[in-house]
Amino acid sequence: LTGDAAAGKTVFAVCMSCHSRDEGVNNVGPSLYNIVDRQAGTIEGFNYSDANKNSGITWTEEELFVYLKDPQAKIPGTKMVFPGLPDPQKRADLIAFLKS
Ligand code: HEM
Repeated sequence: LTGDAAAGKTVFAVCMSCHSRDEGVNNVGPSLYNIVDRQAGTIEGFNYSDANKNSGITWTEEELFVYLKDPQAKIPGTKMVFPGLPDPQKRADLIAFLKS
């Protein structure tokens, strides 16, 4: 699946209630600045759940694609209360945006 960053920017609106893309800006959720290929649970200054912090995940595009479908399934006990995005194209677009 090829993602479209411009379309992903629109999808990101559903994440913005909890996440900023600006470096160092943590809200309900951690900043998503440079999140692609980062080790889970390593955004400076954010108070993660043990489940997220100890997940051992690296946020590759593939891992994000699975996670964003159903966060609770990928990381049982995560405090990210978000049902997920069932539409694979929306997830691909969102990941393209997060990379951009
Ligand atoms: C964690 C992405 C929506 C709250 C995360 C992480 C990612 C992510 C990649 C892991 C960060 C890391 O390990 O450093 C997204 C995306 C969203 C979205 C792309 C939209 C599709 C939301 C929403 C909320 C939220 C709507 C609030 C209702 C959180 C919280 C965490 C988190 C609290 C930390 C989880 C923990 O420590 O267990 N998010 N998120 N997210 N997100 Fe989201």
